[in-house]
Amino acid sequence: MFTIFVSRDEEPCRYRVKGWTGMTALEALIEVYRACAPDLGFRYSCKTGRCLSCLVRMNGRSVVSCREPLVDGALIEPLANRQIIRDLAVDDASTRRYRPQAGDGLVPPGDRR
Ligand code: FES
Repeated sequence: MFTIFVSRDEEPCRYRVKGWTGMTALEALIEVYRACAPDLGFRYSCKTGRCLSCLVRMNGRSVVSCREPLVDGALIEPLANRQIIRDLAVDDASTRRYRPQAGDGLVPPGDRR
């Protein structure tokens, strides 16, 4: 079992998650959503680390939650300096321009050759 704290309405909520070795932060959020918080707001799409939809802050550090191993006792918060839509879901318009096009790597448009 893992304990995580998820920022909701500016107050962290404590959840117990039945987890496994190597569980990611996104998998923990999905477990919380399925088990006890169907109204938890968060985003994800590809689950492979390419789309950046699942960016959150874990213990104060911005992470791609589908690739980040869960840490027991972690505090998961929305990205800083973004408009919060609900809970962990933020307005991600500014990260959308860095998302890869088909066949591209994660390279900002200005850095492409
Ligand atoms: S869900 Fe696409 S990068 Fe995490």
